[in-house]
Amino acid sequence: MSSASAPSRPVPRPGVQAIEAYVPGKAEAGAGVKVYKLSANETPIGPSPKAMEAFRAAAALEFYPDGSSTKLREAIGAAYGLDPARIVCGTGSDELITLTTLAFAGPGDEVLYSQYGFLVYRIATLAAGATPVVAPEKDYHSDVDALLAAVSERTRIVFLANPNNPTGTYIPAEEVRRLQRGLPPHVLLALDSAYAEYVHREDYEAGTELAESCANVVMLRTFSKIHGLASLRVGWLYGPAEVVDAVNRIRGAFNVSAPGIAAATAAVGDTAHVEAAVAHNDVWLPWLTEQLTALGLDVTPSVANFLLVHFPDEPGRTAREADAFLMQRGLILRRVDAYGLPGALRLTVGTEEANRLLVDALSAFMGRNAPAEASAGHGA
Ligand SMILES: Cc1ncc(COP(=O)(O)O)c(C=O)c1O
Repeated sequence: MSSASAPSRPVPRPGVQAIEAYVPGKAEAGAGVKVYKLSANETPIGPSPKAMEAFRAAAALEFYPDGSSTKLREAIGAAYGLDPARIVCGTGSDELITLTTLAFAGPGDEVLYSQYGFLVYRIATLAAGATPVVAPEKDYHSDVDALLAAVSERTRIVFLANPNNPTGTYIPAEEVRRLQRGLPPHVLLALDSAYAEYVHREDYEAGTELAESCANVVMLRTFSKIHGLASLRVGWLYGPAEVVDAVNRIRGAFNVSAPGIAAATAAVGDTAHVEAAVAHNDVWLPWLTEQLTALGLDVTPSVANFLLVHFPDEPGRTAREADAFLMQRGLILRRVDAYGLPGALRLTVGTEEANRLLVDALSAFMGRNAPAEASAGHGA
């Protein structure tokens, strides 16, 4: 039976059609050019050798994985002092963002995040049929007052990436706690701490304690960044039993692969490898910030493993032109137009070779000599 008003073919829900697909960081430059991929916040030191070994040993591809990721949850629990029963593992934290949104928000509900908040929040919200609400930021920092002012009776979830991607900025633990205190108890605060390991500021918290003690807080983490397992797609969520239960009910029964479980289990125990990645970042993040600032570029101060760099609005020096110039030299950065930042590029801290090439290329682009050698010396 067909009615006159029914469409002639299947049509996705309106929210789905409003989604601009997430554009991943580019991975290829011109033919024959050596590529330095600085577009996806991946680690320049690669995964732990122990994780690689565990990955290779997990090659019985005909068997389904453990659908509960038990060993991995136990390893995370042991490493962070958390109850494994309150952890859910996912196909990257992206999947957990989506599942949390689907479980707690739907048509008529609002999901709130800040102006330059990670784009997947918008995609997940629209996919759930809910309405995205954006609170303005202050100087590229999430603004708790603005977030609280944007809460309505329809708000169901507030996403806060801390530090945020693509800005690289963070807000102090006391601000996050103030946000939690200001939210009605039925509004879920999802703290996305994808880059937490890189941050060492005394006033920073990844959210473990809040997720431990508050019935409306979850923390999201990933193995894609400092652990160098982006290709395997493993993330985890820690939170109250009710949230864990809801996400477990709607996730795929075998959502994390066996090689992913094995490699991540080994990675979480290799603290020396994480420390080496932090040490590398501690040398090169300030070095890049200093060098690019000396070139006259405006760099948003970052606590993560990437930088947001703002280009002049002058013909010949724009972000778009810089991107094309760098691309020809194999240096692939991330355009952030989709975040409403067409005048900026985001770059990931790379190997020493990539970082130095980038500064040389940008000095050529800006028409200046490379700045005098600053503090970095030899990279970790
Ligand atoms: C803030 C933030 N959250 C979550 C993710 C998703 O990471 P994954 O799905 O690889 O775990 C990213 C990746 O870029 C991110 O920047």
